[in-house]
Amino acid sequence: MKVRKAVILAAGMGTRMLPASKVISKEMLPVVDTPAIQVVVEEAVASGIEEVIIVTSPGKTLVLDQFEKAMELEHHLEARGKGDILSMLRKSNHPVKITPAEQAEPLGLGHAVLQSRAAVGAEPFAVMLPDDIFDCPRACLRQLLDAAESNDAPVVALLKVARSEISKYGIVDAKAAGERLFELRGMVEKPAPEKAPSDFAIMGRYVLTPEIFDLLAQGKPGAGGEIQLTDALMALAQRRRIFGYEFEGIRYDLGDRVGFISAQVGFGLKRPELAERLRAYLRSVICS
Ligand code: UTP
Repeated sequence: MKVRKAVILAAGMGTRMLPASKVISKEMLPVVDTPAIQVVVEEAVASGIEEVIIVTSPGKTLVLDQFEKAMELEHHLEARGKGDILSMLRKSNHPVKITPAEQAEPLGLGHAVLQSRAAVGAEPFAVMLPDDIFDCPRACLRQLLDAAESNDAPVVALLKVARSEISKYGIVDAKAAGERLFELRGMVEKPAPEKAPSDFAIMGRYVLTPEIFDLLAQGKPGAGGEIQLTDALMALAQRRRIFGYEFEGIRYDLGDRVGFISAQVGFGLKRPELAERLRAYLRSVICS
């Protein structure tokens, strides 16, 4: 299979990050100095994706504006000879073909994916949740795409989580099938740790086949009145083999306060121009 399109879901309410997400959406919150939505689009581009479909809620166009040319700002920087800032800014000008889609009401991840159906068409595609941000030796989505392409099958990203974290995630029942690769036999949404089939949680990157759209359309609203992606994935697993891939790298949950702060520190320390001052500051607070 060849995957050309990725769908980024950005139509949620972001209630866990209020009040930061009251006026701007959660996907616009920065990782050091780059909005999460841009970090995720850059991951898609680094993974070889040719078209990104961004699902937003009505009127929530800031996430789309991030990829438009900022004329006035560019003129201002040009006039002042600030070429380095200008070239950094220009990286966000249409980095890839971007197609908007709309979810009228936040009825869950499955429902949000369904809103991309017309834009995706009848080809395999990726789904990316912008509150999961990765620091990987090779783009996280690229790792999944390699696994999907070589097995000609849908693949979800897996991460081993601590027992205390299990009830926050979709947990898989999985059988080892190769290097970092697992065949999925089932999955449970947010189980109690003693009922969980494993300690592998599904993270926000998926490679799916278009059959998922019919399964989502047939799906009945589950927990919280939402159409769950996990339910459609389970139905898909009844029809064909689907895999989980334990990606190599670190994941940050930007939708959680500690995850958000950790991402600033983790990505800040990777920036040569920031690392020394940041390290000195961290040492001073930890040792005080
Ligand atoms: P989350 O469940 O983390 O996002 O969904 P949320 O609902 O916005 O956040 P909280 O829990 O209230 O804080 C992961 C991603 O899926 C999108 C969100 O925008 C987020 O990027 N999403 C979620 C949708 O696009 N539509 C939905 O109906 C739900």
